[in-house]
Amino acid sequence: MPVQLDRARLRELMAREEQRFVRTHPRSGELFEQGKRNLLAGVPMPWMTEWAGPYPVFVREAQGAHFVDVDGIEYVDFCLGDTGAMTGHSPEPAVKAIAEQATKGITLMLPTEDSIWVGAEMERRFGLPYWQFCLTATDANRFTIRLARAISGRPKIVTYSWCYHGSVDETIAINVDGATVARPGNVGPPVPPEVTTRSIEWNDVEALEAALAPGDVACVLAEPALTNIGIVPPEPGYHEALRELTRRYGTFLVIDETHTICAGPGGATRAWGLQPDFLTIGKPLASGVPAACYGMTEEVAQRVQAYMETLPSTDVGGVGGTLSGNALSLAAMRATLEQVLTDEAFERMIALGERWAEGVRGAIERHDLPWTIQRIGCRAEYWFVERTPRNGAEAAASDDHELARFCHLYALNRGILLTPFHNMALMSPATTEADVDLHTQVFDEMCAELVG
Ligand SMILES: Cc1ncc(COP(=O)(O)O)c(C=O)c1O
Repeated sequence: MPVQLDRARLRELMAREEQRFVRTHPRSGELFEQGKRNLLAGVPMPWMTEWAGPYPVFVREAQGAHFVDVDGIEYVDFCLGDTGAMTGHSPEPAVKAIAEQATKGITLMLPTEDSIWVGAEMERRFGLPYWQFCLTATDANRFTIRLARAISGRPKIVTYSWCYHGSVDETIAINVDGATVARPGNVGPPVPPEVTTRSIEWNDVEALEAALAPGDVACVLAEPALTNIGIVPPEPGYHEALRELTRRYGTFLVIDETHTICAGPGGATRAWGLQPDFLTIGKPLASGVPAACYGMTEEVAQRVQAYMETLPSTDVGGVGGTLSGNALSLAAMRATLEQVLTDEAFERMIALGERWAEGVRGAIERHDLPWTIQRIGCRAEYWFVERTPRNGAEAAASDDHELARFCHLYALNRGILLTPFHNMALMSPATTEADVDLHTQVFDEMCAELVG
């Protein structure tokens, strides 16, 4: 019989960890108080208050898979800017390219030669021939949705309940008893989400067909696996059904590889043989310099081109961004793809992901905890349930906020940063076996304390 957790004990342990955090992080505490004078909630963005401690640690400097905070404490970083620094912090080839380009012009509204190289490399990795550049994965998704609506002449999109694709209005919806409703906590949505979106459950082929059948859906926007409510993999046959049904109903398939690039150099698209019409990706592409892009097939590109020719100018608002495709981000992207997130780097990173997952699995079994683990390539995550949920609703229902906060703070107090909002760890090219083994040891000790 798996053990049941004693909640009173959990709260006592949490209080102990909070005291330890405050005792050992005085300088971060001071900066947090100072920050409250000019920054809302004391931080640059509100989500920075969501870390497990009473306040966030302020960073002094970061290098590779490690960073040091303003109290002089060193951490192994498994959060890696929630994928933005999956390259490791400040990798040398990217820093060099950024420094060189910074002396030669940062943004021009004109193309540079690096864009040619990066476009060809994206085709090599993902198989799609045509690419456009922007600054964030949110933008890549927003622009792609606009293009899909424009060339299909259809108003709606389909997304998955509890998905996350950035701050894209159309996607911040969940499915409740078959209806599309606003996801709780979304700030200031422009219109009720059912106007723009049908939200369905992941892995439900019938619901997908029902959503596409009216013939008014421009695109389905999907991650290869849900990664933002824990990792929820596709069931066997789901991607085949998704591709077949989107083709049958004349709907574009947009695959968002922003997180699933962890599956390999060409993301899950290449690793699993997916065939999207559009592909979007951002975050780590330029080692943390804002950079993102979206690709499309030959057929889609022709339709976009034909559509653009009908406009009085290329676009007056929906697809743009003055800084999109700037010289600095393209130089950083080129260096990152050519020298940092290489095919060889992925081999090492994925082996480390396996090692991390095996370490966690071993501790779960040793302490007889009713928990499980999921992994895609160099990204791994543990769940506080025995069986991985099969969709967003099940995943959301399995959330144990109190326990997750404790796991994060326990790790943080012992020099390990996990990704907030998940129990997730990501490996970079700079991560070592010793980094992974430190996590295994700390996780094992935490499990021992939890079961008493
Ligand atoms: C799958 C996915 N797509 C897009 C985004 C948006 O990325 P950004 O916030 O960098 O625009 C995220 C952010 O977490 C994401 O997880």
